[in-house]
Amino acid sequence: GLTTKGEYRHFMLKEIHEQPQVIAATLEGRLGERGVLVESFGTNAESLFSRAKQIHIVACGTSYHAGMVARYWLERYAGIPTQVEVASEYRYRSVVVPEDTLFVTLSQSGETADTLAALRFAQERDYLGSLAICNVPGSSLVRESDLTLMTQAGPEIGVASTKAFTTQLTALMLLTLALARVHGGDAQRQVEIAAALRELPAIANQVLALDNEIEVLSAAFAEKNHALFLGRGAHFPIALEGALKLKEISYIHAEAYPAGELKHGPLALVDSEMPVISVAPNDELLDKLKSNLQEVRARGGELFVFADEDVAIEQTEGLRILRLPHIDEALAPILYTLPLQLLSYHVAVLKGTDVDQPRNLAKSVTVE
Ligand code: G6P
Repeated sequence: GLTTKGEYRHFMLKEIHEQPQVIAATLEGRLGERGVLVESFGTNAESLFSRAKQIHIVACGTSYHAGMVARYWLERYAGIPTQVEVASEYRYRSVVVPEDTLFVTLSQSGETADTLAALRFAQERDYLGSLAICNVPGSSLVRESDLTLMTQAGPEIGVASTKAFTTQLTALMLLTLALARVHGGDAQRQVEIAAALRELPAIANQVLALDNEIEVLSAAFAEKNHALFLGRGAHFPIALEGALKLKEISYIHAEAYPAGELKHGPLALVDSEMPVISVAPNDELLDKLKSNLQEVRARGGELFVFADEDVAIEQTEGLRILRLPHIDEALAPILYTLPLQLLSYHVAVLKGTDVDQPRNLAKSVTVE
């Protein structure tokens, strides 16, 4: 059943393994022959989207990280200027709303107090309209927004969000494709990404099959007090999400940096006690990352690199590589989330923490 652990030791592990199905469910009925069906967002979505000249995305926690990924996508594939902000900052700021701005909230629960307050704050301002990407039908956020797109993750019980995040990313790629289509973006590229989305559940299954290898890696973290996650571009927010998962459930202090910022501070912390995890899906990003990686190695830091099976990088002393199946680069942020979730999960199990209900945290923060 949906709310029992079944064969799994924890809800979190079960929810990680459900991702191929729930990503498929989130795509179901929303992709046509020529790409995304814009009406999936509601009957008046097409007219609203065609007027949107900018986007403001507001969310909290893991949902905020999904918004950060979406900013890279919306600007790159739809050419729409996008800002992303945590709800608790946004709602107390003197926000300037440019003409024809679409307001987007992201939330698993649809009941997060700050996100809901941000929506109500936005409704008092001159936005074009509001869209909620949410996992709980009938939630406050869904009821109060002009447009909604439901993620189809099903009930998420583990406090650390997993399948809600990857289905949000899936929904956000649908939003990107819808806006790209309405705004006359590169049609060929939209068709390619739509085709890649259809293959994503199968490729996600292949990545989940690497669970045993990831469990082996996790032993290197259980005795550590700190970890550093690096990524570039749309993988910087994936590094942030990887660090958040490790903090939430294993209580290991973890930080994420855009790889290019390494030399502006965090490099001072790197030694043999600070494992560094790097998300480097393709050669273009890897090239830039390689010199960063050498800087880490030179300081005795142990490196863990998650990379495409085709990238030119060799495993050496102190540098461990986990190779992932090839995927269209547009969707790599979704795929690279999975091994980071599994890594945190196994570290937490080794440490013996309460994986599904980590100390001091709540599934849904309904008070400010
Ligand atoms: C809490 C949860 C997180 C979640 C965040 C936002 O902090 O522990 O997992 O990402 O709230 O929740 P929402 O329901 O708005 O996505």
